[in-house]
Amino acid sequence: MARVILDPVAHPDAVLGDFSTPNPLVTFRKEDVAFIYGTKWKQRYFTRRGDDYFVFPAQWDIEAKTWRRYYVEPGTDWWAEHYPADQMQRPTGPLCDGCHSVNYDIKTKKVTEWNVGCEKCHGAGSLHVQNPIASTIVNPAKLQGERADDVCLQCHTQGQPRTKPLDGVYYDWPVGYQPGDRLSDVWMLEEHQLGKETFTHWPDGNAHKNRMQGNDYVQSQMSVKGVRCYGCHDVHGTKYEADLRLPGNAICMECHGPQRQAGPPGTLEQHTQHKADSEGSKCIACHMPQIARTIANVNVRSHTFKFISPTTTEQSGVPNPCTACHKDRTPQWASDALKKWPGVSTWRVGG
Ligand code: HEC
Ligand code: HEC
Ligand code: HEC
Ligand code: HEC
Ligand code: HEC
Ligand code: HEC
Ligand code: HEC
Repeated sequence: MARVILDPVAHPDAVLGDFSTPNPLVTFRKEDVAFIYGTKWKQRYFTRRGDDYFVFPAQWDIEAKTWRRYYVEPGTDWWAEHYPADQMQRPTGPLCDGCHSVNYDIKTKKVTEWNVGCEKCHGAGSLHVQNPIASTIVNPAKLQGERADDVCLQCHTQGQPRTKPLDGVYYDWPVGYQPGDRLSDVWMLEEHQLGKETFTHWPDGNAHKNRMQGNDYVQSQMSVKGVRCYGCHDVHGTKYEADLRLPGNAICMECHGPQRQAGPPGTLEQHTQHKADSEGSKCIACHMPQIARTIANVNVRSHTFKFISPTTTEQSGVPNPCTACHKDRTPQWASDALKKWPGVSTWRVGG
């Protein structure tokens, strides 16, 4: 997994924000930045005050190459109401660092390592160094069922600790969790209210915000049937997008296809009704639409794997993959087209 946190002095090339053109949002200098934070979608800037870090109030939108305000408003993240309005009174220790480091110690406010290091997923490694056998380290692949994905869910979910505040402090990450533990003992997921669009959820239960791959995935039949996050991703790094084990449709076709129980029946073109080499024949285009907002109009992919029908868009405003790609068309057009597709049931996709 890529490195999110970098020291700008050691890595000057990693600073993406434009500090040379004056901008009213940018009230700080590059020299004041202790850490840069983020390399893919957005970049935020940390400063050190006493023994804590704080996030400066402007962030860089990497795709749009522009500055945007950084501020968590009341009524958005659950913790906002428990902190003073002043950005410089919202330390990253309780609000961020538990997920962006290894072993953040809430008493000493120190970490063993910034970023997602081995021990965050494999547990403490000192015994393993002394005695390198399987029983001295956690291998997530050998954990029972959901305990394996809990290793990922400790960071890839929007949720709240069960105990809060802890010693008077509101943490936004599962303090005390260790790989192998039952995450739900200390952490609960943000609730979805059916039919309501909230900061975290679309009305149908799909994630509306980034860092919700876990909230989404626990709803999928794949999760129920024992396909784990590492069934598709190899977090030790691959040459493909998002550390996938195989690129494009190949990762899906490992388990799906007409001869497989998981389906879909028929050839690719029969299922998708687009030419095999079309953008409209990529599994993720229809089953993992980009609807979970990370910054401005940049979104990460849904992980419920549900096909969101155009009728759902008309009923409750959840974006559907057809008109997200066919931008000049209406949901009604897409519903009408779907009615002519042989493999589709109108009972399920409506119209
Ligand atoms: C984000 C979580 C995560 C991080 C970080 C991580 N691993 Fe893993 N590791 C896993 C998972 C999940 C598996 C099991 C599935 C697989 O092999 O991909 C695994 C499997 C392994 C295995 C294979 C064990 C076996 O018996 O086949 C080794 C070795 C390993 N990791 C070493 C490391 C080392 C060394 C690091 C640090 C450089 C590291 N891992 C960082 C999650 C992680
Ligand atoms: C300590 C917190 C943490 C844990 C544990 C963790 N992740 Fe992540 N993951 C992150 C962060 C932070 C990023 C963003 C990295 C970036 O922006 O470069 C990320 C990014 C990713 C990405 C996208 C990589 C890319 O290049 O687009 C995948 C896929 C992913 N994680 C899967 C997993 C899986 C699978 C597990 C469990 C085996 C896991 N993560 C465990 C924090 C974590
Ligand atoms: C519960 C764990 C968790 C907490 C708390 C958390 N993050 Fe993250 N963060 C993640 C994960 C996982 C990702 C990558 C997945 C995603 O964004 O969908 C991520 C992504 C990011 C990115 C985007 C990285 C990139 O390369 O574009 C930035 C920037 C970031 N976090 C900053 C913060 C800041 C600042 C805070 C505190 C205000 C914070 N995070 C709190 C887990 C967490
Ligand atoms: C490791 C095997 C495996 C891989 C890889 C895999 N699937 Fe699945 N998939 C399954 C299984 C098993 C089911 C459940 C089938 C059942 O219940 O009959 C399933 C179910 C589904 C469903 C039904 C809806 C739901 O609730 O999950 C969709 C859609 C789906 N997969 C899409 C995909 C896509 C898209 C990919 C590639 C990104 C993919 N799958 C990769 C095994 C896999
Ligand atoms: C153009 C859009 C589109 C593409 C691309 C697409 N699908 Fe689908 N898929 C659908 C629709 C629509 C349904 C729902 C059919 C129904 O419910 O009658 C569906 C249903 C499914 C189901 C059954 C869902 C369930 O809830 O049990 C599976 C499994 C599936 N697709 C897998 C795949 C795989 C694997 C790929 C890539 C090879 C893929 N799909 C590509 C539109 C698409
Ligand atoms: C069935 C396969 C499959 C499973 C299981 C799966 N993912 Fe993914 N994931 C994908 C695909 C495909 C992409 C998109 C790659 C692309 O954009 O080309 C993706 C993208 C991501 C990203 C990058 C964000 C984005 O949208 O670009 C993160 C982070 C991630 N997955 C985390 C997870 C975590 C955590 C789990 C388990 C809770 C998980 N994934 C389970 C297939 C899967
Ligand atoms: C990622 C982009 C993408 C997605 C998602 C997508 N399509 Fe398409 N679609 C295309 C492209 C590109 C073409 C042009 C012909 C081709 O490549 O097959 C097309 C062609 C079509 C056509 C025939 C030409 C026309 O415009 O009348 C219809 C009908 C259609 N799509 C319906 C749908 C429906 C319904 C869905 C949702 C289930 C959907 N498409 C999802 C990209 C997409």
